[in-house]
Amino acid sequence: MFDAKKVAAEAPAPRSTVVLGMGGTIAGRAAAASDTVGYVAGQVPVAELLSGLGSDPLPPLLSEQVAQIDSKDMSHAHWQALAQRCTHWLAQDEVCSVVITHGTDTLEETAWFLQQVLQTHKPVVLTCAMRPATAVLQDGPQNLLDAVTVSRDPQARGVLVVAAGTVHSPAHVQKEHPYRLDALSSGPSGPLAWVESGRLRWSSLPNPNQPHAHAATALTRPVEQWPWVAVVSSHAGVDPRQIDAWVSAGVQGLVVAGTGNGTLHTALLSALQTAAQAGVALRLCTRCAHGPIVGETTAITCAPRELNAFKARVSLMLDLMV
Ligand code: SIN
Repeated sequence: MFDAKKVAAEAPAPRSTVVLGMGGTIAGRAAAASDTVGYVAGQVPVAELLSGLGSDPLPPLLSEQVAQIDSKDMSHAHWQALAQRCTHWLAQDEVCSVVITHGTDTLEETAWFLQQVLQTHKPVVLTCAMRPATAVLQDGPQNLLDAVTVSRDPQARGVLVVAAGTVHSPAHVQKEHPYRLDALSSGPSGPLAWVESGRLRWSSLPNPNQPHAHAATALTRPVEQWPWVAVVSSHAGVDPRQIDAWVSAGVQGLVVAGTGNGTLHTALLSALQTAAQAGVALRLCTRCAHGPIVGETTAITCAPRELNAFKARVSLMLDLMV
């Protein structure tokens, strides 16, 4: 978790980029350089990642370690600390952009959360790696360099994700492969841009950030008081007793990943209707990897159509943060 002692002591030079470290494989260490699977994520300090970027002249960079974790362990407390540190740095005139080094596993959720809560048009660029920092052929340093490049591009604004030479929007990016270097994809929506030898080729320009109405609350409300929202899925043989268990345990919202075009197993639907009557907020999305639900298919309100279940969970949590 964020440690005030590790805050960069220097004042930022004009047009600085601040690099915030969250951990991940990009900061991972393995016992052998040939090992790209049996490593521990979140080991190498972000300042060390920057010092490994080679001898080419770089723009003014500051770094700060906000967390040092495997992103599978991301918590709401980590998110709030990260959003607070982004807000702190972005408010400074000398800082023109923020880059975040992060694990790939939950990067899409963090990117969507930040896009919803940060009130800035300055670029905030998340990057990551699929190979640890100890690998013979690492992808992290190039991704980090690309992220700095993107963050300083005059057309960049708001929250963006950069990996494997490709720039993604938080709404569309998704981890689609457990091992490949280009594990992140925007699916049929396609990337926003490509980084080609230090230059950007935009396919479409990012929209300015439009923060959620409860963005300020997410930055200040103790995370123990954030609404409890869970993800459930419709599938063959689904047991509706799980919904009763969630409701009895006090869940406030459920995102339901339906089959195909958002259809739900009959047994699940009736349990969900009972949950709604008990005051649980419901949102529907599809468990398909790509494509939005078309039309209205059940009595349950659709989540924003471009979002997968895990990003829809973030949105519903913010909706309930009244
Ligand atoms: C993580 O998400 O922290 C580990 C996996 C990765 O970064 O690729």
